[in-house]
Amino acid sequence: MTKEKRSCDFTIFGVMGDLAQRKLLPSLYQLEKAGMLNYDTRIIGVARHDLSQNDFIAKMRDKLECFVEEPLDPEAVEQLLARMHYVLINLDIPAQYKRLRKLTNQKQRVMVNYFSVAPFLFGDICTGLDQAGLITSETRVVLEKPIGRNLASSKEINDLVANFFDENQVYRIDHYLGKETVMNLLALRFANSIFTTNWDHNTIDHVQISVAEEVGIGSRWGYFDQSGQLRDMVQNHLMQILTLVAMEPPVNLHDDSLRNEKLKVLKALRPITAGNIDKRVVRGQYGPGFIRGKSVPGYLEEEGGDPHSTTETFVAIRVDIDNWRWAGVPFYLRTGKAMATKRSEVVINYKRLPHNIFTDSYRNLPANKLIIRLQPDEGVEIEMLNKVPGVGDGLHLQRTMLDLSFSEAFNRERVADAYERLILEVMQGNQALFIHRDEVERSWTWIDSIQEAWAKSNEPLKQYPAGTWGPVSSVALLARDEREWED
Ligand code: BG6
Repeated sequence: MTKEKRSCDFTIFGVMGDLAQRKLLPSLYQLEKAGMLNYDTRIIGVARHDLSQNDFIAKMRDKLECFVEEPLDPEAVEQLLARMHYVLINLDIPAQYKRLRKLTNQKQRVMVNYFSVAPFLFGDICTGLDQAGLITSETRVVLEKPIGRNLASSKEINDLVANFFDENQVYRIDHYLGKETVMNLLALRFANSIFTTNWDHNTIDHVQISVAEEVGIGSRWGYFDQSGQLRDMVQNHLMQILTLVAMEPPVNLHDDSLRNEKLKVLKALRPITAGNIDKRVVRGQYGPGFIRGKSVPGYLEEEGGDPHSTTETFVAIRVDIDNWRWAGVPFYLRTGKAMATKRSEVVINYKRLPHNIFTDSYRNLPANKLIIRLQPDEGVEIEMLNKVPGVGDGLHLQRTMLDLSFSEAFNRERVADAYERLILEVMQGNQALFIHRDEVERSWTWIDSIQEAWAKSNEPLKQYPAGTWGPVSSVALLARDEREWED
């Protein structure tokens, strides 16, 4: 990954929105505090609110107080606010982009345009920037999800942006790629010979990827109901984790090396069809239940909910990857809202040994597991068998854990937010941690196959009580293959 240190004008379209204030602003603050912003980098907020520069700065100060989860460092706050400028633009009025033009000096500087707005506004912003002469080879755009809700609509968005920007100027965000532990998958796999040599169908029985969220939908009902867990979480975040676990070693960490290897995995996903969906996919929706002892409403009773909605809040899928490395090794994915606890992890389940000489301890020797905890309590565990210490009592085995907790091993006070890394990477012009157009479209092709099969299938949505690990059918999905979830 390259380290370009250039000054830039970092423009946030939609600076008054939730994402900008909850995520981007606190991340910029952390970068400022760590001294990672170039001395004359500027941050420009764009919105249509009628605010003076002073009003804007006062608002940003308030938001920092609200959303930075630690006592603020007054010096870093002042330095950050001193970089900030406000420009009022109605995004659909191209003439108003001249205001931005006046502020920016294109000659020497990189211009990053962060589209922190709904995708239907992307076209207006591209047109406005273009007509104001603000698109040069030094201009970059950052696109937030959702990039469409199926292959056709994602193509529309990508085509539209491609009318103005080359692919090497486009940075599509999947914030999971900015997470420390997701990045560590690369280190674990490609910097440790014990794993590089034990990472295929010869040694691995199956892989589980779980991303469980404890929170329900709450007030996000309107957005979520149009999307569902498959589009909201699987199409992007789980697919990214899957590709990092399954891909071939990239030749290096440069932009396209990584992205090309991930793309090959997406191309090898076996499509799901109406004929096999009932055995390969479980879709669920949470009902009322208890989380941490507190009674919580079901999805249909959430604020603003439609009591007849059939949108899924849980999905479990058996994924087969038709390539040399993974033939016969299923990947089981599972993600849901309002589950027992927040936990994201990858579990690599190794094959059982062909013969057991320790029958006094185990009739069937349990297989080794490598558990990669992505969040919270980031770390890596290896489940293995050891002899119980002692003499004269035969040779008895016991399951034990080699447990590496990142917070203890690296003695860090805080884990950087994914957006901190990603903002820095865009400023430095490194695309490796962003999604290529081909990846988005391949992933949608596969997700569309599931949506289409669902539309044809009579299989009803499965209910699960909030605060559990999902519907019982999700257990049955693995039990059918004589396996079980790591819970
Ligand atoms: C977002 C989804 O992309 O990721 C949300 O839209 C989800 O529905 C969130 O809650 C989860 O992110 P994290 O970082 O909390 O795992």
